[in-house]
Amino acid sequence: MSLLQAASEGPALIVCNTCRWSADEREDAEGVRGGARMFEALIEAAKGDDRLAELAIEQMPCLFNCSQHCSIHLRGPGKIGYVLGKFEPTAEAAKAILDYVAAWLESAEGVVPYRQWPEGVKGHFIVRTPPPERVVVS
Ligand code: FES
Repeated sequence: MSLLQAASEGPALIVCNTCRWSADEREDAEGVRGGARMFEALIEAAKGDDRLAELAIEQMPCLFNCSQHCSIHLRGPGKIGYVLGKFEPTAEAAKAILDYVAAWLESAEGVVPYRQWPEGVKGHFIVRTPPPERVVVS
């Protein structure tokens, strides 16, 4: 059995669906993980947003950033990608993430000027990741 399955080849926001609900609880009162709630919040917030038409929002278990839940990974062809974390699974966090993603989609190589960053993503970047067949030079 393979650990991998096909996903979008285009720009994608990949959400860890197993991240904790909080520092004290893995799941909310309904038994749902924080990461699954984050995925739901992002899907809801993206509805009808034309800026995100080419974006796939996908989910997978554990991005290995568990201590900084909730975690997401942004990636796309020819663009620098990012892992972000330390989000609460809320509509407000989802909106900030998607406002950032909209600017990232418009960028040539995945670099969004800091002045365009929504407040809600500042302090949430964990690592940047080079796209396939590229490395970053500065
Ligand atoms: S459970 Fe979400 S990064 Fe590990």
